[in-house]
Amino acid sequence: MNSIKVFAPASVSNVACGFDVLGYPMDDVGDQLIIKKTPVKDLVITAIHGDNQLSRYKNENVVTIAVQALLDHLDSPPDFGFGFELTKKVKPGSGLGSSASSSVAGVFGVNELLGRPYNKEKLVEFAMEGERASSGVAHADNVAPSMLGGFVLVRSYTPLDLIQLDYPKDLFTTVVHPQIEVKTSEAKKMLKKQIDLKDAITQWGNVAGLVSGLAKADYGLISRSLKDVVAEPVRSMLIPYLAQAKQIAMDCGALGCSISGSGPSIFALCRGKEIADKTARAFKALYDQQNIDSNVYVSSVNTKGAEVLE
Ligand code: HSE
Repeated sequence: MNSIKVFAPASVSNVACGFDVLGYPMDDVGDQLIIKKTPVKDLVITAIHGDNQLSRYKNENVVTIAVQALLDHLDSPPDFGFGFELTKKVKPGSGLGSSASSSVAGVFGVNELLGRPYNKEKLVEFAMEGERASSGVAHADNVAPSMLGGFVLVRSYTPLDLIQLDYPKDLFTTVVHPQIEVKTSEAKKMLKKQIDLKDAITQWGNVAGLVSGLAKADYGLISRSLKDVVAEPVRSMLIPYLAQAKQIAMDCGALGCSISGSGPSIFALCRGKEIADKTARAFKALYDQQNIDSNVYVSSVNTKGAEVLE
């Protein structure tokens, strides 16, 4: 096999209470990447579609940074190189794991072309190097769900321990992306380095409640647990009309609503597509009324993660 086309989904990370430890991927929204083996031992980004600001230099683009981490780990590196043609469906700075989609697509596709030396769990570690380069922190709560599919818990970072969670299959997510950019690196720097014990107690109670609610399909418990007292109160100032969006989502019957990743996207988690569609219409109307362009997505939780398209 000399070339491959792969897809890696966008993702909602944090999921309210799970800062840096919880995430799930979306359907259809994400990055496509065509990778071709090349005779010259180098990594070359030949084209980027859907974005004109990302660097094509191999030391500045997360695709090639993550792939280089994979190649550096091999006992014997290949005697050929790779060319990459990237198509972005989600803008960087959206809070939908845009950089993660690119990193995951890169390492997943190259791993396929090399005959699968690594499993998907190991590939997450290489993709995390893309996150380190783009946000300053090698967080896994976007790359792990994008790679593996389904709800993923990062139980531990050292060593990396990824848990694929059980969850009810009738969950849908509605995401609104107001067209402003929030840099993850900046949104990370805003957060306090220490939190009050009472907030920590609230937060870890909610993480445990959410994981348990997902496993038992206890929608009331899921709903009660979708609360964030750590990141959202600090970051809410970055997201226009967040409070109104949350109220609207709950009025539509959503289980919960919070910032997607570091924002500005906002997600709602809903039981069934009907409520998700209703929430989508209400989100769109909210931002239209405020003359803020927005993209709205309705999606089930992607179960496959990174996949080969051709
Ligand atoms: N967990 C990360 C954060 C996600 O909130 O900073 C970035 O999209």
